[in-house]
Amino acid sequence: MNRIASIGVVGALIAALGATVAAALIEGERNTPNPNDPAANRHITLKLGHAMDQQHPVARGMVFFAERLAEISDGAVTVDIIPNGQLGSETELLEQVQHGALAMTKVSTSPLESFVPEMAVFGLPYLFRDEAHFWNVLEGPIGRELLLKGAQAGLRGLCYYDAGARSFYTANRPILKPDDLAGLKIRVQSSETSMGMVKALGGFPTPISFGELYSALQQKMVDGAENNPPSFRNTRHFEVCKHYSLDEHTRVPDLLIVNEKLWQQLPAQTQEWIQAAVDESVVYERRLWQEDTEAALAAVQEEGVTIHYPDKALFAAKSAGMLKQYEGTPVGDLVERIEKVKP
Ligand code: GCU
Repeated sequence: MNRIASIGVVGALIAALGATVAAALIEGERNTPNPNDPAANRHITLKLGHAMDQQHPVARGMVFFAERLAEISDGAVTVDIIPNGQLGSETELLEQVQHGALAMTKVSTSPLESFVPEMAVFGLPYLFRDEAHFWNVLEGPIGRELLLKGAQAGLRGLCYYDAGARSFYTANRPILKPDDLAGLKIRVQSSETSMGMVKALGGFPTPISFGELYSALQQKMVDGAENNPPSFRNTRHFEVCKHYSLDEHTRVPDLLIVNEKLWQQLPAQTQEWIQAAVDESVVYERRLWQEDTEAALAAVQEEGVTIHYPDKALFAAKSAGMLKQYEGTPVGDLVERIEKVKP
């Protein structure tokens, strides 16, 4: 890596950036200053806000991304990660990236639906036949196309992180068949498809932000929620919800997003560094995800949670009408294409 050339590029970048995206960046001095070339002492820091706790596999994937980017760029581009929803809910984080107050964020595609309507496709229950089908779609042309769909809204997707499959967890009684949801208030993410999915299965959807859900469960504002195993464990929702029913109704990925205007102003070399570090972090996170999902299921059982394995076909049959509602729309067209992807 040619350090002087790379730093020159970053210096030019800082000069070129407009006011809109300047807030998303922190310009500073390098940790190891070069007294012979003051221009070579400059670096940029990208601010990345997200809502996960630091032990969460996706959060650890982003730390890996930041570490690799610093290494690959020889310290010229660093990432300042602000975790735990300190900067707000995922919807608020998306707004901050859109307005250039933040360079990057990581969100579930569910809140992203309000900004990029095509993302609704990931909220449709039992669209993916299994994990292999899901990843074949994400890694193929449809996945790549969807990552870029947000560019018009100022939100460019850089990669998908594995966020597993989402299943119901409840305080008092297990969900073994769709009818068990009758009369139950189930927390959902802020998204139309999450609301529609719970409604289609017979429950009452209640949108609450991720950070507020623990107290909402404790105060019995809702009877349950739905999420993947690492999130169920890390949020300690198992302290209130003692039944986890692995119906795996949706596979909603997480997306790493960058402000589009900022991205376009980055020199090609900087974009390449970022993309290379992102791609490595995806491989790392997906491996971590597998290990952590098993560990999370074991951990919640030790905490007294009963894991149930309901017949998924019952849930798929009851919610099938939801996919039909989208026929003839851009999301419906995506459904058709996704169904044709092998295996
Ligand atoms: C998952 C997802 C998060 C999201 C959360 C939620 O954990 O990875 O991005 O915030 O679900 O249900 O709100």
